Formats: sequence, structure tokens, C-alpha cells
Amino acid sequence: MTKTIAKTGLAAGNGAKAVAGLVVDYAPSIESDKIVTIPPRHQLYIGGQWLKPVEGRYFDSINPATLQVLSKVAEATAPDVDAAVRAAKRAYDRTWSKLSGRERGRYLFRIARLIQERARELAVLETLDNGKPIRETRDVDIPLVAAHFFYYAGWADKLGYAVPGAKFAPLGVAGQIIPWNFPLLMAAWKIAPALACGNTVVLKPAEQTPLAALKLVEIFEAAGLPEGVVNIVTGAGATGAALTAHPLVRKIAFTGSTDVGKIIARSVAGSGKKLTLELGGKSAHLIFADAALDQAVEGVVSGIFFNQGHVCCAGSRLLVEESVAARVLDKLKARMRKLRVGNPLDKNTDIGAINSSAELDKIRRLIETGKREGGRYFEPENITLPNTGNFLRPCLFSDVAQADTLCRVEVFGPVLAVSTFRTPAEAIAKANDTPYGLAAGIWSEKGSKVHAVAAQLKAGVVWANTYHKFDPASPFGGYGESGYGREGGRHGLLPYLEVQP
Ligand code: NAI
Ligand code: MG
Repeated sequence: MTKTIAKTGLAAGNGAKAVAGLVVDYAPSIESDKIVTIPPRHQLYIGGQWLKPVEGRYFDSINPATLQVLSKVAEATAPDVDAAVRAAKRAYDRTWSKLSGRERGRYLFRIARLIQERARELAVLETLDNGKPIRETRDVDIPLVAAHFFYYAGWADKLGYAVPGAKFAPLGVAGQIIPWNFPLLMAAWKIAPALACGNTVVLKPAEQTPLAALKLVEIFEAAGLPEGVVNIVTGAGATGAALTAHPLVRKIAFTGSTDVGKIIARSVAGSGKKLTLELGGKSAHLIFADAALDQAVEGVVSGIFFNQGHVCCAGSRLLVEESVAARVLDKLKARMRKLRVGNPLDKNTDIGAINSSAELDKIRRLIETGKREGGRYFEPENITLPNTGNFLRPCLFSDVAQADTLCRVEVFGPVLAVSTFRTPAEAIAKANDTPYGLAAGIWSEKGSKVHAVAAQLKAGVVWANTYHKFDPASPFGGYGESGYGREGGRHGLLPYLEVQP
């Protein structure tokens, strides 16, 4: 049933003005932020204690939807990082490496259950600190965080089945550095397999979004996790660099930009540290003429515009078969006009706040480059943006060429580049014509075509007739400049184990 309500005047700053009867006018439905208490100041979590940073410096964590400071957060320098790594090493030597897999699994199960119990609180905190819509944190991020701990809890006493016939041992201290786009999910992806395998952890959250990881400490303590098993040091790049350089760290797991991934690969080279890198992407959707077009359009929209395009595997390129290109573009534009941009705590919001002013500037610069290079630009002008906060309309460029910046450079924002193809071979060649290789989406009603195309795509994940579906049992990772190593599934255990055949 299509509903056309020709009322104008949405609640200020939440989405689209109803133009020409296009948009259903929902009343605001704001999730309360009362459920979460945010301390005004956070220290470093080292060896089971909250410690002041040696140099006494703090930085602000900001709500990007209001630009208000949520909390002051300690900046760890090399001596703090050293204390955290030593605490992790002590915990490894004295307690964690002495426990059976079954005992480790019990802690992880407890953590998973506590995350479920406190899911709403964590979702609100994540939305406040990151700017992504509550619908995403409530329905996607936090359930996946719990699922990840449950999944790896199950592996803790079955590691022998992950490496059949081989001898294996944990590594020791793992240093883990994560980005701001999925703060809690990335913390879960890193911490859960590390602990399941018997390692201890020093985690460095992103400086833009440290609060939810710091809140996890309450859960670790409620689960009775022994002190020093997880340590959290906050700060920016220099803090991360101190962690990667530390001689007692045996493994580095990094998710973030390709530039920093390369710096880390260089700094770790020759040190004997294990390394996994999950970096950027320029992932493509391939829509074939035989696809269910409405479903495909919905997949494309959710794959690049929900979460503001702040997703490493965002489907930022759309390749569409020429015979249906005009229809697909019309449908896309119609759907984009109905997107609701605004208050991330509103349950109706599709697109929340861009995570930081720096990211907003970067995205705007790339949009200007796209306009200069001559792609055909579209943004839904009916969408009104809130007066304050880091907000941006979703947009697309059609008729872009393979050599254009928007086809090559990761924008990390709600910007879609659309081009066409005539044959499957051309679609595959264009999809693979990128230094990255993280994900792809195929849209076709023909199973044989889906399989044939998927086998030729150089991407770590290929979704068919869906997009952005995650499961902890499924490995995730990339080719080329998207990094190396896999997280999730049985594969995700191997980087945390020393295996002797
Ligand atoms: P970034 O790569 O600088 O930050 C990611 C993490 O690495 C943060 O925790 C940061 O503090 C840490 N870090 C920075 N420099 C480091 C160093 N030298 N050694 C160790 N750790 C270091 O990414 P940033 O600046 O937040 O975003 C820049 C661009 O990177 C974005 O516009 C986007 O294109 C891309 N990006 C990609 C992500 C992904 O998931 N693939 C996630 C975040 C950003
Ligand atoms: Mg923040």
C-alpha cells in the first residue's frame, strides 16, 4: 500500500519536508538519554583500576549531533601505555593463561549476557558519542556485539577443533586499535576472539568515540573478569603508535584508514608481532537487468546512506546494467527524497550526524571535486537539515567515469557514484578496478549468474540480493589495500594463536 500524505512541516530538523505528497509525516519519537550516566571525566583503565594519565592531559568527546561535550577523556602517553601493557602481561602470566578454555568461556558468556541486559543503555551511549541513528545501534550494533561475545565464548573450550591435529597456544598481550565508525562492534570483534584464545588485551578506542568502550568496563567488572585481562588506553594516533611499538605486545589488530594501516605495517615489520589490518574500501553494487529492482534500490540505499556512509564496506559505487539504468536512477532518487536526516535519537531517523567536523569537511571537499570532474550531481533538496550539528544530505553522482575521484577514493560519507555496464564481464572488470577489495553486492534473480559473478569478484565479502548482513560465524576481511587477515568465524581465531603443525 502506498501512503501519500500531503502534509508539510515536519518536526524541526528531522528529515524531509513533505513535498508533493511524497513523505509520510511521522511525529518525533525520541529515545530518552536518561538511561545512561556519562561521567564528566574518564581516566585510563589499567590493571583493573582507573588511573590518571601521567602527563595529566584530557581531550573532549563530542556529540556530533549537538556539538556538545559529553565527557573529558584521559590522553594516554607512552608511560601509560607501558603500564597498560605490563598489566596485561602480568594478567596473562598469572591468571588468564592458567585458566581452562571452559573457564574463559564462562567469563565471555557472562559478558555477552550483561551486554544484552544493558543493550538499550549501550545503544543510547553509542548513538550520543558517534552520531549514528538509534535504530542502527539498537537493532544492529549492540545485538551484534552480544552475538560476537556469545560466539567466541563457545569457541573458548573447543580451540582444538579450530586447528585440528595441531599444537596451539595463545600469544600473550594483544594490542588492538579501533576506529570511530562502529566503536562497540569493533571492540567486540577485537576483544572476544583474543580472550577466547587465552590472550590479554590493551585496547585503544578511537579518540572521537571512546565512551562506549569505557562503559564496557562496568560490564567486565560485573562479570568478574580478572584485573588486567582487558586494559583500555584512550588517546589519538600517538597513543596508538606507542602501543604498536611496545616490545611486549605480541599481536596488533587494527581497523581504520589505509594510510595508518601502512604506517603500522611498517612499524611492526621485523618485530615478530602478528598483524591483522582491516582497512578501507570502495565496494560496488552490481545491479543486473533481471534483478528485483525495488529490493535492489533498498539495498543500495541502506548500504551507503544508513550510518552516514561511515562503513568500511559501504556500497559506495553502483554499477547498473544500461537497459535499466534510467529506471533504477529514478527509483533511487525517489527513495532518497524520503530519507529522514536528523536527530540520531529519533527512532524514525535514517541518517544521523556525520561523526566529526573533520569528516564533514573531507566529505564536502570530495563532493566539490566530484562536481568539478563533471559527474551528474543529485541531492534531495526537500530534506531540511537541523540547524546545529554535523549533518549532510545524502547525494549521488551519475555518469561517473572509472578514473573519476569518486570511483577511486574512499569518501566515507553518504555519497554514491553511479555508472553503467552492458555485459557481466564489463561489470566484473569495473567492480574489480580498484585498489581495494572489501565487499560487493550482486543483484540478480538468476542464481547461476550470481555464483558465476561472485567467483570473479576480488572482494572479501560478496552479498547476493542483500547487503550489510553480518554474522559472527562468517569471516570478514579484504584484498589489496583493504588489508589482510580475517575477523569473525573460525578464521578470526587464528591470528590470536601460535599454531604448530
Ligand atoms: P585513522 O586510521 O587515523 O584512525 C583509526 C584508529 O587508528 C584510531 O584509533 C586512531 O587513533 C588510530 N591511529 C591513528 N594514527 C595512528 C598511528 N600512527 N599508529 C597507531 N594508531 C593510530 O582514521 P581517521 O583519521 O579517524 O579517519 C580518516 C579516514 O580513514 C576516514 O575518512 C575514512 O576514509 C578512513 N577510515 C576507515 C575506517 C574503516 O573502517 N575502514 C574507519 C575509520 C576511518
Ligand atoms: Mg564523540
